Amino acid sequence: MGFWKSLFTTSDAATASKQTAGVGYIAEAKNTDDSRIFFSVDRTIDLYELEELCDAVGWSRRPIRKVRKAIQNSFLVITMWEQKSNRKRLIGFSRATSDHAFNATIWDVVVHPDFQGKGLGRALMKQLIKKLRSEDISNVTLFADPDVVNFYKQLGFMPDPEGIKGMFWYPD
Ligand SMILES: CC(C)(COP(=O)(O)OP(=O)(O)OC[C@H]1O[C@@H](n2cnc3c(N)ncnc32)[C@H](O)[C@@H]1OP(=O)(O)O)[C@@H](O)C(=O)NCCC(=O)NCCS
Repeated sequence: MGFWKSLFTTSDAATASKQTAGVGYIAEAKNTDDSRIFFSVDRTIDLYELEELCDAVGWSRRPIRKVRKAIQNSFLVITMWEQKSNRKRLIGFSRATSDHAFNATIWDVVVHPDFQGKGLGRALMKQLIKKLRSEDISNVTLFADPDVVNFYKQLGFMPDPEGIKGMFWYPD
């Protein structure tokens, strides 16, 4: 997986990719052959393609109109794409909500199973955190499913710092 890890590049290939990737391109990780992986902050996402990505990891379906609203009202959305020739495929997604000053909360981090275990989830999270830090947001929180706690720990997230507990309220 090392090959994928530090592959943000300013090479000619990256410049070419930037041109075809379109608005919102922020960084690239590249493959060995004709395909490229890049990150984007563009929110014009085919929501049915996003639904397919979420289906692929077994997430429950959510109403498309609410997903659209959540994306529109998020502070930051970072998507990850595989590009082969002129075809782009959505292979990762993440977003954060924020008060635009102190706090941000990360939601819906997902990497397509075909691309998991290659360092791309970490790379996606790093892009998200880098963007939040560039907006001077220093308190970044998230809610981790039990089986991914160690993924986030490796990125520096701490469960219950100083004994603070996340608390939830649900309607009856
Ligand atoms: C969690 C997820 C985003 C990780 O993406 P990924 O691309 O497979 O992760 P990476 O390859 O970048 O892994 C980075 C490191 O975290 C570790 N890791 C990855 N998934 C892990 C998990 N579920 N539990 C513990 N560690 C994990 C990897 O082993 C790797 O460590 P290493 O560098 O020591 O080998 C991805 O598995 C996914 O989309 N899962 C389904 C959706 C999900 O559960 N999202 C989180 C909701 S809170």
